[in-house]
Amino acid sequence: MANIVIVGTQWGDEGKGKIVDLLAEYSDYVVRFQGGNNAGHTMVVNGEQFISHLVPSGIIQGKTCIIGNGMVVDPEVLIQEIDYLTEKGVDVSPAQLRISDKAHLIMPYHRAMDNAREAANKKKQIGTTGRGIGPCYEDKAARRGIRFVDLLDPGFEENARLVAQEKNFYLENFYKSEPVDIGEMDARFDNFRKRLAPYVTDVSVLIDTVLREDKKVLFEGAQGTHLDIDHGTYPYVTSSNTVSGNACCGSGVGPKKIDKITGIVKAYTTRVGKGPFPTELFDETGDMIQEKGAEFGATTGRRRRCGWIDAVMLKNAVRLNSLTGFAVTKLDVLGGLESIKICIGYSCRGERIEHFPTSLGMLSDCEPVYETVPGWKQDISGIRAYKDLPENTRKYLARIHELTETPVEIISVGPGRDQTILLNNPFA
Ligand code: GDP
Ligand code: IMO
Ligand code: MG
Repeated sequence: MANIVIVGTQWGDEGKGKIVDLLAEYSDYVVRFQGGNNAGHTMVVNGEQFISHLVPSGIIQGKTCIIGNGMVVDPEVLIQEIDYLTEKGVDVSPAQLRISDKAHLIMPYHRAMDNAREAANKKKQIGTTGRGIGPCYEDKAARRGIRFVDLLDPGFEENARLVAQEKNFYLENFYKSEPVDIGEMDARFDNFRKRLAPYVTDVSVLIDTVLREDKKVLFEGAQGTHLDIDHGTYPYVTSSNTVSGNACCGSGVGPKKIDKITGIVKAYTTRVGKGPFPTELFDETGDMIQEKGAEFGATTGRRRRCGWIDAVMLKNAVRLNSLTGFAVTKLDVLGGLESIKICIGYSCRGERIEHFPTSLGMLSDCEPVYETVPGWKQDISGIRAYKDLPENTRKYLARIHELTETPVEIISVGPGRDQTILLNNPFA
């Protein structure tokens, strides 16, 4: 039996969707445990691209997918996604997809608050995805959120209306922006109930039942370690815990059920939205990586900022998640570079530091200390065996292993499911 967690190690978009889709073949259930439709996970199978924002990335492999209690779900977006996947011939029936009765609903007023806040103070913008993620988690913590269990219980609308009235007060009077139409919000609930009620279940009980049958479960993280609400570059983070520990809280299983934790690492670093990024490139190498890597957000279409790989971040990710192995993605994108830089530490205010500082002021004073390694000229996207990789590519991977004390178990050389070298299957 093996249950594994997959998390992003950087600032999201590391290629989690691809690796989850790949490893889902060896699992029986795939569970997402945090975040919402701020995520955009891409899978490419036989040349066809699928992007999921809410439905776990195991759905294309025909595995039962579970939306855990730690997620925040915009019912409108979920219905659209179910329809989109169904049109593409994917089975997203209630037999294939389950939603926790404890997951929280993103309401129109959450989206409105997210956008009004970002617009109100351009200088302090976080650069959120505008999907209402932060405001929904706020209401969850304030014990005034709406959960799927409430949707099944007529009468909950009264609570939603009360919260909406308060948000409208802020929207109109403080943010001087448009209030939400409470009548229109009300009118949609029946459809949400009709479409989504058949999917709702107690996910903790379901997972416990299947684990007793020795089924394998893959827990799919969203965002990345450095967007974690506690451990990321606060306040330039998302509003949930993205680290592996939250796989347990966000789905209702205990930590002893987790066997392995795989961290997804892009062969370089990207970030969407605002916030510090010590190894960011502002030159033509950065532009080359951005173009060749097609670094545009899968959710908002924004251009992703690009920079060199950062071993300080990766060591943080190893520690915070108890990583047992890495999947290195987008290695093909680095092909053609004369040399490649790896950040191995920071120089900060005259001192060498090895850990990501908590203070953003200090982080902005950090200069990366680089080690330069030779690049490779070949196009590696067609290579399927480790031994066939250019020597310098193998050296780059070995250096990542050495610096982080964590083995590279999966190598991705292109977006397609088959463009992968599986050195050590975490489910084995
Ligand atoms: P996620 O949010 O971590 O699932 O990642 P995204 O899907 O947002 O972004 C990753 C992008 O890189 C997607 O467009 C993938 O199709 C693509 N991708 C994944 N792995 C590779 C790879 O090894 N090489 C290349 N060139 N593209 C990849
Ligand atoms: P996946 O799962 C990359 C970023 C946003 C913003 C910050 C807060 O595809 O890797 P939010 O809307 O969550 O309040 O925005 O977090 N962000 C992501 N960046 N990938 C993601 O998800 C992200 N989800 C949120 O750009 O900087
Ligand atoms: Mg993404």
